[in-house]
Amino acid sequence: MHPSPPPLRASTDQAPGITGITTHLDPGWSDRALREEVQQAFTSLPKELSPRWLYDQRGSELFDQITELDVYYPTEAERLLLDQHAEAIVSMAGVDTVIELGSGTSDKTRILLDTFVSDGQLKRFVPFDVSESMLTSALVLLGDRYPGVSITPVAGDFNLHLDQLPEAKSRMLVFLGGTIGNFYPEERETFLRSVAAVLQPGEWFLLGADLVKDPARILAAYDDVEGSTAEFILNVLHVLNRELDADLPVENFEYVVTWEADDERIDMRVRAKTEIHAFIGALDLAVVFDEGEELRVEISTKFRPPALAAELEAVGLRVRHQFLADGDEFGLFLAQRA
Ligand code: SAH
Ligand code: TRP
Repeated sequence: MHPSPPPLRASTDQAPGITGITTHLDPGWSDRALREEVQQAFTSLPKELSPRWLYDQRGSELFDQITELDVYYPTEAERLLLDQHAEAIVSMAGVDTVIELGSGTSDKTRILLDTFVSDGQLKRFVPFDVSESMLTSALVLLGDRYPGVSITPVAGDFNLHLDQLPEAKSRMLVFLGGTIGNFYPEERETFLRSVAAVLQPGEWFLLGADLVKDPARILAAYDDVEGSTAEFILNVLHVLNRELDADLPVENFEYVVTWEADDERIDMRVRAKTEIHAFIGALDLAVVFDEGEELRVEISTKFRPPALAAELEAVGLRVRHQFLADGDEFGLFLAQRA
């Protein structure tokens, strides 16, 4: 699933070819951030972590598996929308640079990039992700497919490093996969404000968001019988054990997923099956989970198009077009910085 990377050629910013990964993630910083977060998370109630720690190498592989599940409808729904509307998007938004936030494998993005390339516009593609292993595996394919494009990957945190995005004549920021749903409302507002702040007037933002629909269908997407989602969420405990020298007994936790009707979001947690005493070596911290106690790992909010469009407009991102799949499966929102 993660082939080894090709030799990375050094090149100037605009020359075709792949440059090495520019990283804003100094390892010491990530380590400190994780320690601070876990210290805070495990000494307050309810216990809660942020989703960025889910995507280590194993987590990234498990995420890829999730996107291939039949019950996980968002990937195919978004792919179909891109297939149907890439030409309309490209003809509305003339840009020479596409920057993809939380790019993962950039798999669906290739539909858009293909269309930009055949239109003769695209000079540069910047995949931006917190997971270097995701970026590295994406690069192999991208380099082969777009020999005439400058591909300049960035490892960074989209909550922290958006002010350091590369400049260009005209850019489109792309944020797919429904990742916008993984923010809490306040974080989402901060994120959208920082997107608006980095764009120049006239530049573009393309957002893919999952929409409110039958809760049973939504829940099924996050509760596959194969257990990939459970393994993906429980993997965060392996990350803590490895990174923080902890001894959390992963087999004594189970995955719990609920649909929170009031907030219209999926809530993903791990729950202690028994009373658990563990030790987090790097923090010299003893932690106790009561039987049944939960640690919230991630949410996935589902949106109503008018409300999401209003959130974009409120920060100065004018919605020029909404592409909605039949039955409100999924939505693509094309917005322009006012
Ligand atoms: N866009 C892809 C992947 C979505 S999964 C798709 O549509 O399939 C979410 C991606 O966001 C993962 O690749 C993960 O590594 C990345 N990610 C999660 N938190 C991040 C953060 N704080 N900053 C940057 N990338 C992040
Ligand atoms: N952002 C996508 C979503 O919320 C993908 C995703 C992130 C996901 N974390 C997940 C999917 C956990 C399943 C389980 O749907």
